[in-house]
Amino acid sequence: GSRFQDVQQGPPIEVFQLNRMFMEDPHQSKINLSIGAYRDEKGQPWVLPVVRKMEKQMANDETLLHEYLPVLGMEQFTAASTAMLLGEDSPALAAGRAFGVQTLSGTGSLRVGAELLNKQLNYTNFYYSVPTWENHHLVFVNSGFTSPRTYRYWDAKARAIDFEGLIEDLRNAPENSVILLHACAHNPTGCDPTHEQWEKIADVMEERKLFPFFDSAYQGFASGDLDQDAWAVRYFVQRGFELICAQSYAKNFGLYNERVGNLAIVVSDPSVVQTLRSQLTWIVRGMYSNPPAHGARVVTNVLANKQLFDEWKDHIKAMSSRVTAMREALRAELVKLGTPGNWDHIVKQIGLFSYTGLTQRQAEYLIQEYHIYLLKSGRINVCGLNPSNVQYMARAMHDAVTK
Ligand code: LMR
Repeated sequence: GSRFQDVQQGPPIEVFQLNRMFMEDPHQSKINLSIGAYRDEKGQPWVLPVVRKMEKQMANDETLLHEYLPVLGMEQFTAASTAMLLGEDSPALAAGRAFGVQTLSGTGSLRVGAELLNKQLNYTNFYYSVPTWENHHLVFVNSGFTSPRTYRYWDAKARAIDFEGLIEDLRNAPENSVILLHACAHNPTGCDPTHEQWEKIADVMEERKLFPFFDSAYQGFASGDLDQDAWAVRYFVQRGFELICAQSYAKNFGLYNERVGNLAIVVSDPSVVQTLRSQLTWIVRGMYSNPPAHGARVVTNVLANKQLFDEWKDHIKAMSSRVTAMREALRAELVKLGTPGNWDHIVKQIGLFSYTGLTQRQAEYLIQEYHIYLLKSGRINVCGLNPSNVQYMARAMHDAVTK
């Protein structure tokens, strides 16, 4: 027999399983609202034109080599990314107390950042919102955080943030707990704190000496505006917090499989930067040695060239406004059908997702009866909708809600 014979089957990963079920489903009217990836108005994946253009140019550039990148990545890339997050005129950047590390997309950033906090500062408590992105828990636990804890976030009845619950849970968190915060476009609820609410969150975190770890997976994609989507992170920096932020280019550049990310770190004293970088070097060295170059080159070249940068900004506006239009279309159809309940939350939420309020039973019904694939939490990827399938979706939801 094999030495592996006692290995137990692991559970499936919901989003990838649903994505696969969708691909294998021959039904004509099937809709994929599962995985968080952009789809155009024909339901197709979209390679951003500016990315395609850059890739063609790079394919003909014989000065580009396949030599190893430095362990902490391309300096131009991390500098451009960190500046995009904090703002070109950020005093923290000018003071040399902010820097970046190139990582394997948002997940890789979370992992490297969590390892740094656990191995170098001995942090073991971390708090994530209920609900949150399904992978947050695992990444932190695998990085050595032995005390995963949760803070309240969602009021299912009001279909809004449970702000009192959130504040109460942060107030009760032990000192030096790491608080995982979504910089914008909270996944899966699509509900972000208001500026005033962020200010209160910062007050409590300062008072309780909690450490902010932002996950920024949608900068520019949420509102269509890079600065607006970075507001919370910049506000915390301005308040004097030291913090970490995981930046992903999967969604806003459509570079899902290229694993392009930046781990931005802001400290209060520039003299610690060099030692931190040396420890980060050993964390990365022991994990994957050094990052891949292709996607980071694409992003760097676009961010560095004013004309390409403007083209890219038009792309993120196009994506976010299509999502907004489909939110409105779905709500309008439900209102037209007289579907019981209030559907305003669909248009109030932001980013790729709507947390519809559909129950697990209703979600399963939509999959089985209508071949519409969505998470059992009721989360839908709004850009899976388009003018030719939104009526079908609304009718299916109406049926699921009224049956
Ligand atoms: C999602 O939430 O669907 C995406 O971020 C994809 C993933 O890796 O889960």
